[in-house]
Amino acid sequence: MIIAIDGPAAAGKGTLARRIAKEFDFAYLDTGALYRAVGLSLLKQGIAPTDEAAAEAASAALDMALMDDPALRAEATGSAASQVAAMPKVRANLLDFQKNFALNPPDGAPGAVLDGRDIGTVVCPDADLKLFVTASAEVRAERRLKEMQERGIAADFDAILADVKARDERDMGRKDAPLKPAEDAHLLDTSNLDIDAVFLRAAAFVKERL
Ligand code: DC
Repeated sequence: MIIAIDGPAAAGKGTLARRIAKEFDFAYLDTGALYRAVGLSLLKQGIAPTDEAAAEAASAALDMALMDDPALRAEATGSAASQVAAMPKVRANLLDFQKNFALNPPDGAPGAVLDGRDIGTVVCPDADLKLFVTASAEVRAERRLKEMQERGIAADFDAILADVKARDERDMGRKDAPLKPAEDAHLLDTSNLDIDAVFLRAAAFVKERL
């Protein structure tokens, strides 16, 4: 059983994907973390995230230790990730790992949940269930602001909203594997739904497929 969850930044895909994986004992892969690791690797070396040769090299020999680095979640890392994610060679280098995870989930798990931007369209076009999770840019910026405030990080709503919109534009506007719902994806707009309500709807789709 392969579940593909796509959507823009801060729509709640990660929380939903983790919860589904836990509920059904499926393996979970946060594919954004792979792009973040490539971006972070460049930032740590003081290399601009626009440097294609360096991004290509970092994605070809991904440093898995970066997946546990607290800086992986920083806004700057998300923005660098979005830049390197527009490079076709970086995407190609990360594709096999993702496909393999979906087809052979670790520890013999009976299924895999992958979240990202192109899971239903490119990584797992034959997924058993595809969900496209969205929310308005304002709602997503509001959630991100709250999250940062809870972590004690100073943040400004307008700056976050601008970042969310810039990321949407880059992720949806790129030529290679742009963010868009697969034709057979179920749309879940979370603007007016809390995480429990979103989870219940998604879990009902999973049970239907099982
Ligand atoms: O989901 P996230 O914010 O951690 O993702 C960071 C960036 O990585 C995102 O802006 C675009 C890119 N990404 C992608 O292009 N394809 C994916 N499957 C996952 C993430």
